[in-house]
Amino acid sequence: MCGIVGYVGEREALPIILESLKRIEYRGYDSCGVFVLGDGEPKLHKDAGTIDDLKENLIGSEYKGKVAIGHTRWATHGAPSKRNAHPHLDGKGEIAVVHNGIIENYQLIKEELLSLGCKFVSETDTEVIPHLINLSLKKKALPKKPGSGKFDQQTFKKSLIKNAIELKEAVKEALTRLNGSYAIIVAEKGFDGLVAARKESPLIIGVGDRENFIASDVPAVLEQTNRIIYLEEGDLAVVKKDSIYIENGGAEVRREERLIPWTIEDAEKGGYEHFMLKEIHEEPRAIMDTLRGYLMEDEIKFGIDFRGEVEGKGKDILMVACGTSYYATLCGKHIIENLAKVPVQVGLASEFNYSNFVLDGTKIIAMAITQSGETADTLMALKKAKRYGSKTVALTNVLGSSVTRIADDTIYMRVGPEIGVAATKSFIAQLVIFYLLGLLLAKKPESELVEYLEELKRMPQIAQMVLDEEDTDIQMHARYLAKYEHAFFVGRGVNLPIALEGALKLKEISYIHAEGYAAGELKHGPFALLTKDTPVVVILTHDNVYEKTMGNVKEIKARGSPVIAIAEEGDEEVEKYVDAVIRVPRTSAIFSPIPNTVALHLLAYWTAKERGCEIDKPRNLAKSVTVE
Ligand code: F6R
Repeated sequence: MCGIVGYVGEREALPIILESLKRIEYRGYDSCGVFVLGDGEPKLHKDAGTIDDLKENLIGSEYKGKVAIGHTRWATHGAPSKRNAHPHLDGKGEIAVVHNGIIENYQLIKEELLSLGCKFVSETDTEVIPHLINLSLKKKALPKKPGSGKFDQQTFKKSLIKNAIELKEAVKEALTRLNGSYAIIVAEKGFDGLVAARKESPLIIGVGDRENFIASDVPAVLEQTNRIIYLEEGDLAVVKKDSIYIENGGAEVRREERLIPWTIEDAEKGGYEHFMLKEIHEEPRAIMDTLRGYLMEDEIKFGIDFRGEVEGKGKDILMVACGTSYYATLCGKHIIENLAKVPVQVGLASEFNYSNFVLDGTKIIAMAITQSGETADTLMALKKAKRYGSKTVALTNVLGSSVTRIADDTIYMRVGPEIGVAATKSFIAQLVIFYLLGLLLAKKPESELVEYLEELKRMPQIAQMVLDEEDTDIQMHARYLAKYEHAFFVGRGVNLPIALEGALKLKEISYIHAEGYAAGELKHGPFALLTKDTPVVVILTHDNVYEKTMGNVKEIKARGSPVIAIAEEGDEEVEKYVDAVIRVPRTSAIFSPIPNTVALHLLAYWTAKERGCEIDKPRNLAKSVTVE
């Protein structure tokens, strides 16, 4: 996730761009840059730091111009550095592009462009875009006279008197080459406007008076205007100071201009009341972006030789983590052992650090799973594994965080900053990484693997289907759950960790005492607590233990507790035995943690909301726990 902005108007562009970038710094903050078009040569400045660093370095600069673009980065391809910061340019430095998204096939395009003589300065996927646009523009500049088929520099120079159609068409042609997601803004020397386009990444236009703004998100422009046009999937726009032209599929389209009544703070939350709700709604996107990052043309690539370590050297996997990340590892153990039959040990970091865990580091790959990359217990655990001679891998969401400096290698979740204290979208992204790792190491017939992969690729839609039921089903059940002071969450197999996660989420934000349990374990003690005032949330997936779990439901009902089931569409049987059903789409059992998690995250959120709790900052908690 990155933030992109553009300005075209009658005022000096740079201060406006810097202000806009600052407003969307929450979208990424490892590096940033601007490109300003004035009378002379275009000015480019990038920094491997924050927007404040960029501002500091540009104070007193001669960056004058009325057209500019800017970018604040959350690195995906290529480490955070000045070189990889946006904007990226074509070879001549005349076309500049800022991009939010992931170009899946950039390697192939890059190789092609290298063979045509293009020079690349960064490791990013984005840099192919200005080169492609440049090539398209060159083609259009070719002399039409018969016999003059070769590219002619003089003719090309003359053709630099730009018009909107030319750049727009060149951008359009370049975009036909790209697989993946993008929101881009393109500036070109000599052109008094900007061209913008989007596919699966958000982009808005802020409408001003003899000036217009483009940005990833509304807060970027809200200081300047509250007249907003939301670009839609596949839109391409040419934005000048006094005109906005939008087309889709080659034909001009009209997009409604809306008046946004939000404050800046509302806008940062995307109009949601809390960051947590916004982040739950970003779960489909989190799945998609994490898949995009590591699944290229159906090949899983982490840049780490997991196969060599596991199959070649016969190593097992050890995962250490805390809290929600720990529950993700418990689920990951099921996923990887099921798909790959590779033994996975999991350790609660705070216990692992002082345990007599028998560890032959040379036979282990140790993975630290941590959203923040700063959790003290997890860092210590990884250091311990390293001391024992393990190869170490970090799975984190924060670039350059402490864990990345300890681990030999790092895998990044690609979910953008998570601001709500309760982890949500990062948990989902961790699961996606475990599915990919399981499939990478799987020894299953090719045809079976293809089926798994196809189903995994459908998970963003599956997660979205659960979100679509939020208003009706889930909110109603949350109102019901909110009346109680104690609750149990139970599941089995791959869904036991999801029950633990559901209970953790509920207790930390609603202050209801909630316990996660293996469904078959209640009878070994907790039954003593079951009364009509202790609701039990049961995950009832159609897997090899469905009947057993249904048996547990009947036992619970016999003790008088209300039961809320998370059950799949089409499971009518369940209605006979439970008090309420939250429906989720049916998937293969192995993928059921995805819809079940989204449902439980929503249930926790709406229950806490019903109880009037401080959701984004629950009492006594912090987003990263840097003490033991
Ligand atoms: C709960 C939650 C915490 C974190 C835990 C580990 O919603 O967010 O339990 O999961 O503090 O944090 P990371 O993943 O940053 O190491």
